[in-house]
Amino acid sequence: MTVNFKSHWENVYQLKNENEVSWYQEVPSKSLDLINSLNLTTESKIIDVGAGESRLVDNLLRLGFKNITVLDISSKSIEKTKQRLGKKSKLVNWVVSDIVDFIPDERFDLWHDRAAFHFLTQKTRINKYVDLVNNSVNSQGNLILSTFSTNGPLKCSGLQISQYNKNSISELFKEEFKLSYSETSVHQTPFNTNQEFIFNIFSKY
Ligand SMILES: C[S@@+](CC[C@H](N)C(=O)[O-])C[C@H]1O[C@@H](n2cnc3c(N)ncnc32)[C@H](O)[C@@H]1O
Repeated sequence: MTVNFKSHWENVYQLKNENEVSWYQEVPSKSLDLINSLNLTTESKIIDVGAGESRLVDNLLRLGFKNITVLDISSKSIEKTKQRLGKKSKLVNWVVSDIVDFIPDERFDLWHDRAAFHFLTQKTRINKYVDLVNNSVNSQGNLILSTFSTNGPLKCSGLQISQYNKNSISELFKEEFKLSYSETSVHQTPFNTNQEFIFNIFSKY
């Protein structure tokens, strides 16, 4: 059965409140810690891919970042995040697109993705994502990629996902990126279940 990913995600954000989804975080602490560990300036160009309603953008604005792009396949999630931010939403570049169809008109210093990449399960879509990252991140730029680990769930939001470990993820990006940091991190869902992720920082050669 082929899944219409866009309808799936529009439906999720239409039906659920922010804290009624397993991936909800009041503060995306792990991502923020990793971002803080990088040599970014407030002028750095940052994209959050598959951001959904994540509060990462609120925190990036609070930290003074001026060039933020937020992308999601779901227009509903983008609309909800814009509403939460109010006037501040004008400071952000918003993109509604399936990531594999995204054609950026700029390059990024940081590509951040928590729990979106692992929804790509077909080889062709995974390869398109890798090519896009390779072509869209500046040299010396960074990729922060977090996915379910090989000890994590096999599905999320009713969809199949791809699990990764340190070796399999570094293998995928090895042509253009060096894996500079990797750690496992357990996310406690709002339903008090645990999900094991790996958070990775890659640096572009
Ligand atoms: C599990 S949620 C994570 C949301 C957010 N990154 C966070 O950490 O709270 C996955 C998100 O990826 C988005 N997504 C899934 N497949 C996508 C695709 N092919 N292109 C763009 N976004 C996608 C979904 O709409 C959803 O918002």
